[in-house]
Amino acid sequence: MTELLNNPSTGKYFVLLTILIFGAIETFGGHYKNTSRTKDDWIMEWGGFFLVSFSSFLALYGVIAFGKILLPASFNAYANLSLWIAVPVYMFADDLAQYWYHRSAHEYDFLWKHHRPHHAAEEMGIMVSFRNSFVYYLFIPNVWIAATFTFLGMIPATIIGLFVKQLVVFTSHSTVKWDEYVYKIKLLSPIMWVVERIFVTPAFHYAHHGKSKADGISDPNGNFGNAFTVWDQLFGTATFTRKYPLEFGLQTDPKDGWAPHLFYPFITSDKVGSEIAKDFKRVSTATMDAAEIELEAGTHLWCQCGFSKNQPFCDGAHHGTKIKPIAFKVKKKRKVKLCNCKHTKTGPFCDNTHLEFGNTPLPKVGKKATVHS
Ligand code: FES
Repeated sequence: MTELLNNPSTGKYFVLLTILIFGAIETFGGHYKNTSRTKDDWIMEWGGFFLVSFSSFLALYGVIAFGKILLPASFNAYANLSLWIAVPVYMFADDLAQYWYHRSAHEYDFLWKHHRPHHAAEEMGIMVSFRNSFVYYLFIPNVWIAATFTFLGMIPATIIGLFVKQLVVFTSHSTVKWDEYVYKIKLLSPIMWVVERIFVTPAFHYAHHGKSKADGISDPNGNFGNAFTVWDQLFGTATFTRKYPLEFGLQTDPKDGWAPHLFYPFITSDKVGSEIAKDFKRVSTATMDAAEIELEAGTHLWCQCGFSKNQPFCDGAHHGTKIKPIAFKVKKKRKVKLCNCKHTKTGPFCDNTHLEFGNTPLPKVGKKATVHS
């Protein structure tokens, strides 16, 4: 056991073994019988697995080689640190860094394009956790943090931390929704309240993969946590519903192939309008007037970013910006006046702010506008 915990390769074997176990459970559970997964999906998922393995290998040997030259006294310096300290320190450092990296991948255009394959998945499953581009995995802080802790001599702590983290990550992506069974037992509800406020559950992470906020369950611009939900609660991005979205994927999906998904910007998409096409540009579709329309009863998603091609409604073009759509309910069919300049202070409704701009060009959305969460 001691030997296993001191071998940096144990973490990789463990990840592979867990994939095989969960893969078998999903397969025998009938998940892949009626799957809509395409060949491109499979290539993307296994391709991502090899890319992150390559990135981990690069980080590990790079950090150890350069560390020994630049900071020789630090090599194995913390090998005797108690596991009671080293494991929590590793896990919290790893998860906090992942929270901000993941959140940035939704809020900044450059990173979004590399995280987009993850959200193009129309089905859940453990292999979905590996759908990211090569560039995303190259800069992902986790592999560099694991390599640094290994360099410092905290190999057992890194392996134990990785074990717990991967277990949470795999179960929160898996079609085996363990929490669904527990939620049905009323007596366990208070315990689950505590569990879901610490660890990411399938319900919590499924909401992040849901197609759109209009279903009242999903929040693709929230629930960013990897292993712990504490960061989302601390930074105001957590939503707990104990429900599971019915639709996953991108709101507007041009169906890019596996190659541009994994290797953008070295390979770009040939699909018109794709965010990873060579000539893609985010163009403002906001206008200096209101949209007066009749809406059916139900939930609608108003575009606040001003980039949707389906104004005044959201089409998912806000990904890669800090601006989110606003979901609003209409009880019965009625006429509404929705803001189309995207500077209203009473979103989604027009408050005539556009009249204040007169003949001046429309200010950039998000600059002067109030951004609602
Ligand atoms: S497209 Fe979603 S907020 Fe604009």
